Amino acid sequence: MKEAAERIKEARFVVALTGAGISTESGIPDFRSKNGLWSKYDINEYGYIDSFLKNPGKVWKMIVEMISSFSHAKPNAAHYAMAEMEKMGILKGIITQNIDNLHQEAGSKNVIELHGNYRSLTCMKCKRKYSIEEVNLSELPPLCSCNGVIKPDIVFFGETLPMNAVIKAFDLTNRCDVMLVIGTSCAVSPAAELPLIAKQNGATIIEINMEESMISHVADYQLMGKAGEILPRLLNEIKNLP
Ligand code: APR
Repeated sequence: MKEAAERIKEARFVVALTGAGISTESGIPDFRSKNGLWSKYDINEYGYIDSFLKNPGKVWKMIVEMISSFSHAKPNAAHYAMAEMEKMGILKGIITQNIDNLHQEAGSKNVIELHGNYRSLTCMKCKRKYSIEEVNLSELPPLCSCNGVIKPDIVFFGETLPMNAVIKAFDLTNRCDVMLVIGTSCAVSPAAELPLIAKQNGATIIEINMEESMISHVADYQLMGKAGEILPRLLNEIKNLP
């Protein structure tokens, strides 16, 4: 932990890649852990854009369950520690796979959302934009005034990612000399490629997770445990350095 703190303190450009694991302590299930979302909903029936197009009402039932966990969730100590690292000028940006808005609610400013955000939605027919507060979820799927189906601005498997987010994510990755990889199995591309690219560029990879991930083999430091406990301790170590 101390060595990782020293590496972060002396770094030129630190970025972070986060996944669902950073939000489990806020009460939001992740995807691939024991009680993750994909243990409850078949990824092939609910995770792909084709499934949404074929039966939007059915997939919206899963989305409503996700949204209800988001709306009660508050940022946890991990989100706040990262927001403080950004304020201290240590962390230059967060690339997140999460759609729960918790990094922003914790005060982080430079947040790149690779998979979108649940708070904004679009009509698939007339492209009218909605905020989550404007959408009536008592009838599924929610319909636009033009009678089109409203879809959250989140990325399903089989969809292209928001181009500006991808460009910014690769830019931050190519500029960093330290990448914190927090709470992600790194099972999904292109997010999973980012630590590998950073490593190839000579960056130091610091992984915070509760178990091995698909990029653990390239991690220079593995801080195993809960992000909500490890990140505040890591921040403290950094603050206590001479
Ligand atoms: N602290 C640290 N790590 C944690 C914690 C925690 N409190 N809770 C869970 N984890 C770890 C899990 O052990 C797992 O390795 O976080 C990781 C979460 O992995 P996934 O559930 O696969 O989530 P993620 O990596 O974000 O998934 C990527 O897959 O289904 C798609 O679009 C979805 O963005 C998602 C993408």
